[in-house]
Amino acid sequence: MNYPLGLLERINGVKFNEPLAEHTTFKIGGPAEFWVEPQDTAELNSLIKAAKNKNIPILVIGAGSNILCADSGIKGIVISLNSDYFKKIEAKKDEILCGAGVRLASLVEKAHAFALGGIEFLSGIPGTVGGALTMNAGISENVRVSECQSVREGKKIRKIRSIGDIVEEVSVMDYAGNIMTLKRKELDFSYRRSNLSDYVILDANFKLFKKDKEEIKNEINKYLDYRKRTQDISSPSAGCIFKNPPQESSGRLIDLCGLKGKSIGDAFISLKHANFILNKGRAKAEDVLGLITLVKREVKVRFGVDLEPEIKIWQ
Ligand code: EPU
Repeated sequence: MNYPLGLLERINGVKFNEPLAEHTTFKIGGPAEFWVEPQDTAELNSLIKAAKNKNIPILVIGAGSNILCADSGIKGIVISLNSDYFKKIEAKKDEILCGAGVRLASLVEKAHAFALGGIEFLSGIPGTVGGALTMNAGISENVRVSECQSVREGKKIRKIRSIGDIVEEVSVMDYAGNIMTLKRKELDFSYRRSNLSDYVILDANFKLFKKDKEEIKNEINKYLDYRKRTQDISSPSAGCIFKNPPQESSGRLIDLCGLKGKSIGDAFISLKHANFILNKGRAKAEDVLGLITLVKREVKVRFGVDLEPEIKIWQ
């Protein structure tokens, strides 16, 4: 594409044709036409305004943990908030203020160090705070019936816990370059979705509570152990491929279709958790998309359920 490169050359450190396979946990993806890591909000602002003026598409990447990127790559600018400016993290009293580029693991660690509880369930989720908020990342876990009185005694229910439950306010930049702070009541979260995808997230404030450090550590270990036991980290992946249908696990449905171990090229359905597709070496986006189509078809035929991808497909 023929963009006026002058505007991008004024931004420090712009890279051309940056291989996205190096920036995604799937280790899949062709080049980003432009890759920029703005050093602060002023640089981000000029980049966004310039791109808007010239009609250049922008995508924001976090830890690259929930993305399947086309083999042919991406036109336009990929923004990564990986500079120190966007990775500041500060704890005070019962809250943590955290830049969008901070890894969830660092946020959990900080909370533990300051004896702040309420965030342990994010342990083991690979992602940045900005990425996790945009897609309202989280977990599903079994809860005792007593915690949910509306359910018949004896029946287990799956409770969804997401990062949106514990965030108090979020600072964002809109795609006209304006900075604003969205308060709790202006934030709209539902399962794996938020109203933050119209913005670039800058930082977020989490409201937590004082808790015994030992208890926090035990909780963290419980979540990490569960993941280790039930999920496959032997090869690169993008985490769960599909969202869960209400009160159901997509992994369970795919498993019941007998699809564990199915492969196309080097893309392989995990033997441990059927909602994970692994890259066994040189998998292409096309191979993964082939498996996604196959899984959707089989689950629809067997259970009448339309699975919806949780991962973002960049093409
Ligand atoms: N199951 C199977 N076969 C499988 C996978 C699961 O029978 O191949 C069964 C399990 O035995 C269990 C039930 O399905 O009885 C639920 O499994 P699990 O606890 O692994 O939870 P999930 O609903 O499959 C969700 C999230 C995960 C999160 C886990 C643990 C989604 C799409 N997935 O999975 O999140 O780590 O709970 O809290 O919401 C992600 O979003 O990328 C992700 C991995």
